[in-house]
Amino acid sequence: MDQESRLLFVNKVFSPSSPIKKQDFFSGRRSQLEKVCDVVNEDGQHAIIFGERGVGKTSLANILTELLTNIYPIKITCNKNDDFCSLWLQAFSKIQFSTTVEGFGFKPEAKKKVINLANVLNQKSLYFNNDIINHLNSLNDKFLFIFDEFDNVEDVKIKSDFADLIKAFSDNSTNTTVVIVGIADDVNELIGNHQSLERCMKQIKMPRMSESESEEIIVKGLQKLEISINESTKKQIIGFASGFPHYIHLLCKYGAQEIIENNKQEFNKAYLDIAIRKGIENTNEQLKAAFRMATINNSTSEKWLNILYACAMSPIDKYNCIEKSKIVDYYNRLTMKNVKGDSISYNLKQLCTSERGEVLQKIGKGLNSRYRFTNPMMRAFVKLKINSN
Ligand SMILES: Nc1ncnc2c1ncn2[C@@H]1O[C@H](COP(=O)(O)OP(=O)(O)O)[C@@H](O)[C@H]1O
Ligand SMILES: [Mg+2]
Repeated sequence: MDQESRLLFVNKVFSPSSPIKKQDFFSGRRSQLEKVCDVVNEDGQHAIIFGERGVGKTSLANILTELLTNIYPIKITCNKNDDFCSLWLQAFSKIQFSTTVEGFGFKPEAKKKVINLANVLNQKSLYFNNDIINHLNSLNDKFLFIFDEFDNVEDVKIKSDFADLIKAFSDNSTNTTVVIVGIADDVNELIGNHQSLERCMKQIKMPRMSESESEEIIVKGLQKLEISINESTKKQIIGFASGFPHYIHLLCKYGAQEIIENNKQEFNKAYLDIAIRKGIENTNEQLKAAFRMATINNSTSEKWLNILYACAMSPIDKYNCIEKSKIVDYYNRLTMKNVKGDSISYNLKQLCTSERGEVLQKIGKGLNSRYRFTNPMMRAFVKLKINSN
């Protein structure tokens, strides 16, 4: 491959801003894929895939539609203004089937006619759910409906309509699987609390990526570009990414570009430094804006910046929360001071307000209170910032 085509190929291999669409570029997530496949193969089972923003839910949904070949996959991205009917009409509009219709005249010729399923669905029907099920049951195919970004559905009525229909599918249909995908800490947040779904809906959590999954993205991607990487640089990239594949793609993309432009073969520390600098410039605008707001200074002190750095460096618990005492420890280490918790209380409180980009959230009260980054990807971004200086 010449230099120009390698540079173009980098954008295919590393795509920090778009979900994976092809299996060849997809890494890890085997247990989640297996779980969904089990669900599809079991009559009456459906699934709900939930997790933080940016962990790879849409990518997984895309790969599912590629992976499952014995099924008719339909993927819908939910929008804020969609309602129950509009979502199912959109889904049905993606199903076409052909049927034979009798011709007219003395020697009628049978003709094949392509029918779009959305045209046979009557929105005003009193039996909308039954109609959906009956139409699908009348076809020979197996169907997989994936509703991505379901967190955009806020109306509880729409959620409960979905829950009712899924339950009805489970009782009356053997050829249809529904998979709901969205950002949430738990299932109830995404679809509401419906006991009827307990047995028929499998909960599949998408966690942040493990180190080995992150490593797979780096190794597989760089191999395609014929670039090698040493262990320590690889480990550093994995560390920065903190389980968010976006950052793996971001750092590898800018590192690889630079390496190819310089006709080199090895991804080492020097290229990682360049990648961090370029990665920061090219990451999500919202994150950059929130970071700017959080760290704006009106004096010469860099207190805001140091507090944010201390938050990013402090260890997190399994709920991604940070103890205040740890923030104080790290703040003192960074600034070589010896302040007490009280002296940064005001700043931590401010960082939870919109004036300071709402970068933090306070969880709990009193002695048990902890802090958490509002956008979980901010922690990785701040870590990159620390290392770009
Ligand atoms: N399994 C995977 N293998 C490689 N890259 C991935 C994988 N999952 C996600 N990514 C990358 O991570 C980023 C976020 O993925 P996305 O699927 O959009 O997350 P979500 O839908 O959870 O917000 C994208 O750049 C995508 O290419
Ligand atoms: Mg998504």
